[in-house]
Amino acid sequence: MKKIIITIDGYSSCGKSTLAKQLATKLDYVYIDSGAMYRAITLYFIQNRVDWNVTEEVVNALKDVHLEFMYNPVSNASEMFLNGENVEHFIREMVIAEKVSEVAAVKEVREFAVAQQKKMGTRKGIVMDGRDIGTVVFPHAELKIFMTADITVRVERRFKELFEKNKSITIEEVKENLELRDYIDANREISPLRKAEDAIILDNSQLNMEEQLELVMQWVEDAIMAHT
Ligand code: CDP
Repeated sequence: MKKIIITIDGYSSCGKSTLAKQLATKLDYVYIDSGAMYRAITLYFIQNRVDWNVTEEVVNALKDVHLEFMYNPVSNASEMFLNGENVEHFIREMVIAEKVSEVAAVKEVREFAVAQQKKMGTRKGIVMDGRDIGTVVFPHAELKIFMTADITVRVERRFKELFEKNKSITIEEVKENLELRDYIDANREISPLRKAEDAIILDNSQLNMEEQLELVMQWVEDAIMAHT
């Protein structure tokens, strides 16, 4: 069957990566979490005290940032490696979430990440999720999805996820972070979060996982048919 590129963009924590992983497994595609790249760069900047408001510091620091995804058969997912070290666990923490949208708004950071993401798409059979995948990274993707869900649903989902690892996290903290990130992501100057004109909207506030996957698999089949 013909392989295509599927892009999933949308607000923070509306289940983009869950859907992307399910699609990749079902279709035997490669899943790429573009947000993990911005999170890993943020981790590097924090660890090395790089001031991301100073262009020269950013440009110099990025020369020493090497990002790589490696498949872990145990978790059945790709994990993020920063300069050879598995940072999958650290990049999901709140200290990173608090700063990642500021870092991701920096022009040089975006150019650095987008260039690598575009290269990953030279082969088809890819599902990539993020904020600008359908608009900037793969504007010619065969299937583009723009995901959204009610803020209360999104906060609950992310709170549950984070609470498992950190019992001191509060629901207010999570809500504040999601709202702030959405605001920065949608209002930044370079490639802001927005729906590509040809993207299909998926509001999953009222859908369970099975219903969602069934619906999207139909879109995938339609997209493959339309491009064969
Ligand atoms: O999983 P969650 O929705 O919380 O976010 P993520 O996909 O891990 O992305 C973390 C942050 O990286 C976002 O809030 C954006 O600021 C940034 N990002 C971006 O600017 N462009 C992308 N293609 C992906 C993420």
